Amino acid sequence: MTRPKIIVTRKLPEPVETRLKSLFTVAFNPSDEPFSREKLTKAMAMADGLLCTLGDNIDEAMLSIGAARKTKILANFGVGVNHIDLDTAEDIGVVVTNTPGVLDDATADLAMALILASTRRMYMHESRLRRGDWTGFDLTSGLGCSLRGKTLGVVGMGRIGTALAQRAHFGFGMNVVYFNRSKVLVPSIPNARAARSLDEVMADADVVSLHIPGSVTNRYLIDADKLSLMKSTAHLVNTARGDVIDEVALIEALQYGGIAGAGLDVFEHEPQVPAALLALDNVTLLPHIGSATLETRIAMGMCAVDNLVAFFADQPPPHQVV
Ligand code: GLV
Repeated sequence: MTRPKIIVTRKLPEPVETRLKSLFTVAFNPSDEPFSREKLTKAMAMADGLLCTLGDNIDEAMLSIGAARKTKILANFGVGVNHIDLDTAEDIGVVVTNTPGVLDDATADLAMALILASTRRMYMHESRLRRGDWTGFDLTSGLGCSLRGKTLGVVGMGRIGTALAQRAHFGFGMNVVYFNRSKVLVPSIPNARAARSLDEVMADADVVSLHIPGSVTNRYLIDADKLSLMKSTAHLVNTARGDVIDEVALIEALQYGGIAGAGLDVFEHEPQVPAALLALDNVTLLPHIGSATLETRIAMGMCAVDNLVAFFADQPPPHQVV
């Protein structure tokens, strides 16, 4: 039997490439150069399956190439699939899979790191030191705020939101308030409180952390109005998707003291980061590294391969989105 042909759009951790090679006929991307639109469309005409990821924007026109399309599965490396037109994929019967679960700890760890970075003003202090402006130990300048007894507001109490809430409560003594659109069963975190609305979380929390998927409904969910509900001493952390925040409104809130600080791992137009954000010292900026540990990236890759293996064995993929 001929092996299914898989095109892989980005360089993968070595153990994942080795496993793929043992199972399929694979075209890898050793240069790691992101595929152009043309190259992605061509790949869909040539491969039975695509192992793709964030940045491979697969829209209606690219999927709707009729009989020219050979690809029957888009195995996404990553949990967020907002770069793929899911409605069209579903309409034309292209299966889309993702890799949830295995990146919860890494992403929650990074959200916690951003909370600490923002509340302890790490970027400001480190840049002062690197500039040579540190004149010695002192007792009153640039003080941060402690986390014990403060309230963490989690927007989106799924797996990652819950993993963060556990770290913040059990590790750092924070109280937790959360908002989730649908009812969720939250594992026991003493005194964790379900808010009745997003507004309540924005107003009550000392730190708000976002854990909602990128989607049309969530675009600019955190806009100027929502930001205006936050305490001026509060911090906002985003490890979800950039466009869930109105970046212009956030920049204004950070510039004029509407909120105290922010920690961002994601941006609306990655890899572009607005110059106005780069100029601020009350925001910590990271280049979308939420899941970027070796262990996590290997686990994500293996999960994407599991989805491909099941699909080509005519079994339901373990993580099918559509
Ligand atoms: C990363 O952002 C992912 O969606 O997995």
